[in-house]
Amino acid sequence: MSPTSDTDFPSPVRVAVTGAYGYSGRYIARRLVDLGHEVITLTNSPARQNSFRGSVPAFPLAFDDPAMLAESMDAVDVLVNTYWVRFNSRGFCFSEAIENSRTLFAAAKLAGVRRVVHVSITNPDEKSGLEYFRGKAVVEQALADTGLAHTVLRPAVLFGHEDILVNNIAWMLRHLPVFGVFGDGQYKIQPIYVGDLADLVARSVSETGNRVIEAIGPETFTYRELVRAIGDAIGCPRRIIAVNPRLGHALAWAVGTMVRDVVITREEIRGLMEGRLYVDAPAAGNTRLTEWARANRQWLGGRYASEMARRRDRRHSYAELRGG
Ligand SMILES: NC(=O)c1ccc[n+]([C@@H]2O[C@H](COP(=O)([O-])OP(=O)(O)OC[C@H]3O[C@@H](n4cnc5c(N)ncnc54)[C@H](OP(=O)(O)O)[C@@H]3O)[C@@H](O)[C@H]2O)c1
Repeated sequence: MSPTSDTDFPSPVRVAVTGAYGYSGRYIARRLVDLGHEVITLTNSPARQNSFRGSVPAFPLAFDDPAMLAESMDAVDVLVNTYWVRFNSRGFCFSEAIENSRTLFAAAKLAGVRRVVHVSITNPDEKSGLEYFRGKAVVEQALADTGLAHTVLRPAVLFGHEDILVNNIAWMLRHLPVFGVFGDGQYKIQPIYVGDLADLVARSVSETGNRVIEAIGPETFTYRELVRAIGDAIGCPRRIIAVNPRLGHALAWAVGTMVRDVVITREEIRGLMEGRLYVDAPAAGNTRLTEWARANRQWLGGRYASEMARRRDRRHSYAELRGG
């Protein structure tokens, strides 16, 4: 008998995870496979190297062909959506990502998907002047408007192998004699381990009803404290100085030209400084960044992690795609 409501999910279920050969999607898919779920991925990079040995087949994120997208989700019970873009660039932008997300949700509904687990961001806000946070709020609303049962997970920043922000702070600490923080560096940030996010997703897959989870880790840092903690963990304690955000952006841009990447955008600096990566909520993850960074001190920041390389090269795994 086929299920009639989301409380009737047979267990295990069939789950479509976007970007399972990427960063968080990989951890999520691995966790779901280990729990016995049947997992497929919807991806822009079906040929990317991955460790699933064929157990997570890939289907294209065919935003220009909603019927094909729906067909790919045939018999899928739960969609886990990690799809988003980090900034506007040649070839991708927030406005397109919003429309693509709408298309994905509509295709899921057409395919008979019963539940969506959606990865968003802390403090999404339709009134924000920052496109990232505004777009995330629009997409959350678009999901709610479908009427599909859903869980929204709102991480601030992820850390783990293949992470960009924490790794690249470590990379700069290894290479520079001083570290400049934007402004006073007193704005807060609450990193969550990507494996803890995967656990939250795994639990959400078999939940019922609608829920929003502030997916934050157990430690809250000011940005300054975060830099200090990473420096201490990798054995590169550096003097931390306040830098005018415009100058900081110009310096980051200069580094970016060397590593052929966008190190950080003006919007990302504003988001940080507005405290958007902080919420007043209980921790949802257990892994402490301070302990994790110490345990991974050998490799953390050893090589630069490039966002643009991930977009340019769709064959190599994220772990291999490093610049610097
Ligand atoms: N990473 C963080 O620190 C962080 C912090 C807070 C919130 N989040 C949210 O967590 C979710 C997953 O993030 P992630 O870092 O794990 O991302 P990711 O694995 O790099 O990418 C997730 C998905 O989005 C697609 N994608 C990413 N950038 C794209 C672009 N420019 N053009 C087209 N497709 C693109 C990927 O394509 P492929 O299928 O080709 O891999 C993949 O399907 C996102 O919604 C993000 O906003 C992340």
